[in-house]
Amino acid sequence: MNIRQATPEDLMSMQNSNLLNLPENYQMKYYLYHALSWPQLSYVAEDHKGRIVGYVLAKMEEEPTDVPHGHITSLAVLRTYRRLGLAEKLMTQSQKQMVEVFGAHYCSLHVRKTNRAALSLYKDTLTFNVDGIEKKYYADGEDAYAMRKNLIDTK
Ligand code: ACO
Repeated sequence: MNIRQATPEDLMSMQNSNLLNLPENYQMKYYLYHALSWPQLSYVAEDHKGRIVGYVLAKMEEEPTDVPHGHITSLAVLRTYRRLGLAEKLMTQSQKQMVEVFGAHYCSLHVRKTNRAALSLYKDTLTFNVDGIEKKYYADGEDAYAMRKNLIDTK
């Protein structure tokens, strides 16, 4: 299994993987926007035949009212490739680039309150904290946890 930076050629496979794994789906122009604006932040996992089996789609938030920070737009790993550490690796690579390329102070994301696997990954493995609850964040009315992880060395 190989983890590498996503290229524009990967975007169709990433969109396909997103459609298979998550109810939050995006138009191709949104994938392109990520790939063209922050090509260093999105990664794919591929199997030995070069098939995309997981992805992380990420961006920077550069609002004048806040310090620069990264945001995970979407993360998924195909069912048969789960619990192999792929999501952890995809997330870690993207976070590293957020700091090294864009000087991100922290990384943020949203996750469904009932998404046990993702919550465990973010909280226990990647040490994200819950920053708040966004009521009815998702189209079906489910609440989201807004989570964040500090990327600046606080020593
Ligand atoms: N139950 C409990 N803990 C879990 C689970 C699970 N099903 N899956 C992962 N974890 C935790 C464990 O602590 C695990 O470590 P361990 O295997 O040593 O116990 C750790 O996370 C690392 O797991 P990975 O193997 O790196 O995770 P994986 O590659 O399986 O991907 C993911 C996890 C992305 C959540 C996957 O289950 C998935 O694609 N789910 C459907 C899509 C989804 O929910 N995506 C996230 C939405 S939020 C967003 O996109 C911002």
